[in-house]
Amino acid sequence: MKIDGTHYRTIWVADDGWSVEIIDQTKLPHEFATVSLQSADDAARAIRDMLVRGAPLIGATAAYGLCMALREDASDENLDRTYDMLLATRPTAVNLKWSLDAMRDAVRKVGHNARVEAAYAEAARLCDEDVETCRRIGENGLRIVRGLAEAKPGQTVNILTHCNAGWLACVDWGTALAPIYMAHDAGLPVHVWVDETRPRNQGASLTAFELGRHGVPHTIVPDNAGGHLMQHGKIDMCIVGTDRTTSTGDVANKIGTYLKALAAEANNVPFYVALPHTTIDWTMKDGVREIEIEERSPREVTHMTGRTEKGEVVTVEISAPGSAAANYGFDVTPARYVTGLITERGVCPASREGLLSLYPEKKPENDNG
Ligand code: MRU
Repeated sequence: MKIDGTHYRTIWVADDGWSVEIIDQTKLPHEFATVSLQSADDAARAIRDMLVRGAPLIGATAAYGLCMALREDASDENLDRTYDMLLATRPTAVNLKWSLDAMRDAVRKVGHNARVEAAYAEAARLCDEDVETCRRIGENGLRIVRGLAEAKPGQTVNILTHCNAGWLACVDWGTALAPIYMAHDAGLPVHVWVDETRPRNQGASLTAFELGRHGVPHTIVPDNAGGHLMQHGKIDMCIVGTDRTTSTGDVANKIGTYLKALAAEANNVPFYVALPHTTIDWTMKDGVREIEIEERSPREVTHMTGRTEKGEVVTVEISAPGSAAANYGFDVTPARYVTGLITERGVCPASREGLLSLYPEKKPENDNG
């Protein structure tokens, strides 16, 4: 996507041919700064401290982290050590494991002397694939937005989204925002309600930034406003992303997603989840019981960062000193609240049967059901 007329992906190899550049998302929307990653430790820190975040981008960053580790030592021991170190950075998004597995498979196929080259080629391929996957998610989601627009000719289609599932969360395009960009580019009148997404404010800081730079009309709302907006007919559909989707269609996404799904169900608002195949965890069946929910520092709840009127970016405490705070990063929305899953292969019901209809190769061989 474009920033001030220049096309950016969220991650790319620098001109030296080996170090990796990222956009420091902790500085957005106040400053657009890029950071150079020069080792696997740098990549791990960028993921843990959320300079990069969003399920697909976490996977892409880990892939390049592995590349940089292999430049220093291409042995099996270092490959396995770095794999484990990167995998431990954030627990909920399954794309991280998917990407590291793909990298390890590609590297193990070749001799030690060819490993670095093979790793960089695979990381680049994974990034390109992510871009194409998200583009297709956009096309498939566009059909749904178009349907809503045709049902209310001349009126704006209002879409609510939570967290940031745009191009900043992926390599380009995004998942939940890809259909919105395509709808806007196709001339459909869309307006996005952007949940602020406490505590880290990915909605207010990142989604609103992205949409604004692309010229998509949007309004930031406090996280608690969705129910009210739905009751008053101000939301035509919700689209969110996901960090892990079970084989049965349960979806883990940023904390607060579940409450939006409940409000949508109660108000007959369609609730869609957009995802690439890399976010499906075929080993899991019960999201609420099985998906590990990341717990982050309470400081992210008790403190907020923003820009003062003088233009200085500062962090302030918003609670009384000494109060305990809990910071669950994600929640799980059971499949029954999801109207449909928008994937690169099409849209399906959020169920085992629905997912297998799009990914028949995942059907166990002895499964006749
Ligand atoms: O904690 P974050 O910012 O990494 O959480 C991101 C989300 O929850 C996104 O909605 C999710 O990764 C899907 S985005 C493609």
